[in-house]
Amino acid sequence: MKKISFLFLICALLPYLQCTEANKEMPSQKIKSPNALSEDTTDHHSFAKPKEAQTKHLSLSLKVDFDQRILSGKASFTIDNQQATRLILDSRDLQIEKVSLGEAETPTSFTLSKAEVFLGQALTIKIEKNTKLVHVYYQTKADGAAALDWLQPQQTAGKKHPFLFTQGQAILTRTWIPCQDSPGIRITYDAQIEVPKDLLAVMSASNPQRKNEEGIYKFEMKQAIPPYLIALSVGDLVFGEVGARTGIYAEPSMLEKAVYEFGDMEKMLVKAESLYGKYLWERYDVIVLPPSFPFGGMENPRLTFATPTIIAGDRSLTSLIAHELAHSWSGNLVTNATWNDFWLNEGFTVYFERRIMEELYGKDYANMLALLGYQDLENDVAELDKKDTHLKLDLKGRDPDDGMTDIAYEKGAFFLLLLEQQVGREKFDAFLKSYFNTYQFKTISTTTFIKYLKENLLEPNQVTIDIDEWIFGPGIPANCPKIESDKFALVDQQVKLASGGAPAKTLNTTDWSTHEWLHFIRHLPKNMAKEKMKNLDQHYKFSRSGNSEILAAWFETSIKNGYGKTLLPEIEAFLVKVGRRKFLTPLYGALKESNQLEVARKIYAKAKPNYHAVSTQTLDELLEIE
Ligand code: BES
Ligand code: ZN
Repeated sequence: MKKISFLFLICALLPYLQCTEANKEMPSQKIKSPNALSEDTTDHHSFAKPKEAQTKHLSLSLKVDFDQRILSGKASFTIDNQQATRLILDSRDLQIEKVSLGEAETPTSFTLSKAEVFLGQALTIKIEKNTKLVHVYYQTKADGAAALDWLQPQQTAGKKHPFLFTQGQAILTRTWIPCQDSPGIRITYDAQIEVPKDLLAVMSASNPQRKNEEGIYKFEMKQAIPPYLIALSVGDLVFGEVGARTGIYAEPSMLEKAVYEFGDMEKMLVKAESLYGKYLWERYDVIVLPPSFPFGGMENPRLTFATPTIIAGDRSLTSLIAHELAHSWSGNLVTNATWNDFWLNEGFTVYFERRIMEELYGKDYANMLALLGYQDLENDVAELDKKDTHLKLDLKGRDPDDGMTDIAYEKGAFFLLLLEQQVGREKFDAFLKSYFNTYQFKTISTTTFIKYLKENLLEPNQVTIDIDEWIFGPGIPANCPKIESDKFALVDQQVKLASGGAPAKTLNTTDWSTHEWLHFIRHLPKNMAKEKMKNLDQHYKFSRSGNSEILAAWFETSIKNGYGKTLLPEIEAFLVKVGRRKFLTPLYGALKESNQLEVARKIYAKAKPNYHAVSTQTLDELLEIE
């Protein structure tokens, strides 16, 4: 930091000093890109020192113990050793039993640094200058590893068997595997996982499609991936095919519904390939997890982890699958160098997701998605600190989770849309395709992307937009593309009619999509009378909707304008069942804001056992618990 500000000062004081081409061209009042001066690819969220010795391959052997709620076993790393005498791994809440070196497994010593919040401990292992193989014997903290969600049978769909899943992103893999837990590091892996005989294990790797007698499963991930993408799930799982390269893992009672819901997965894959190049991960499967999964989806390579709350029965929420699939290019193939560059993962993915949806369901559909996204962006810009509305973030000393806002997702996607509009779709697609091709299986920083963008798109096409304003500046720049939607214009008319009082006198809403309903609910007047809310609910049955997005939006609006008190039993039932943070934060937040903190805390106390650590960490803070 110090170095950057010092250089900044030199630039400001000595206008004749040619710091960089970019700065030379910029008028003084414009936002200057700090990274034009020095590339900052240091990962402040990892203790690893990959320049000394870098992990290349992981051989993992673990036993899953549902009684004690621990994983135990061994992680063996093949390393690229620059004659170092230490290897530093990230570790959080792990019990390290012993460490040994080489094929002969010669014992060696290790130290663990003092635990730091979020980051955990540096596990420093003494190695020889020629060491190439390091074995760590360890176990996870009983019931306390933040990545792991151990579910009781009653928290699953089948109610008979326990369930386990992991969530690695952003820096949680170190809570179940000691590793160089930085997105800038890529490793291949193989694994052997032992589970109770009546359960199946699946990973972000080559997967079995059915259970075996022994309960021992072997996995291989031949493509190098960052450790946040190592993932494991264990449960009473069955597999169902969708297409030649695509399928679903789910609990038996969920499988048929899921296979129907995601019936277009194979088509999504084909469209994605036709846009930005061959799919390089062989299979693309999705596992439908129990409702405590804290996210909508997680792009674990070859096997997206998904919430069951996108199974609406009408395939209306499947853009999430397009999103996670798109990560097979943006994120998994070309990975953000540090969590400060998170927009390179998510902004590209949202843009790509909408292109897939447009290919399959048309422009109107994609425009509705983009407009809902824009509304989310406006909300986040209004709520966040200015510095957190830059695309390039500075998360040093903070939880990288803080960067998971609609800035990375939506501001990022709208920036790419602007670029598309400047050069035309054909050129932009060719640019993106060659970007994925050039950086495949590599990491990329914002600085490197800017350089690539200038050289390969902006300069050849003589485009002169202010990219620094977008990347290093706050808020939504004035040249942000505007999206028009005839469909939403009709919804706006209906909002007016409904606010006037009589929902019986309405436009024809029978073929409205989920997205039109969401736009409708979001735009109801903030102070709408309870009586009117009740009429609407009776007419449209929002609070009994089988669509989780509609339900959550309706509950949020209801809490905000006072009608929520009538719906408390329904709201409570939803909050106790669903652990998806995106739904929880607005609902608990709305309860808090409307002077119902105690109600919120009471529901939370009941619901908390059903939530993953990712969600409880956020909610403990929101509801000021402990
Ligand atoms: N990679 C993210 C989830 C994530 C981000 C987990 C940061 C941990 C830290 C995933 O691809 C994602 O964006 N999921 C979204 C859905 C998507 C359609 C916007 C979600 O879970 O809501
Ligand atoms: Zn994503």
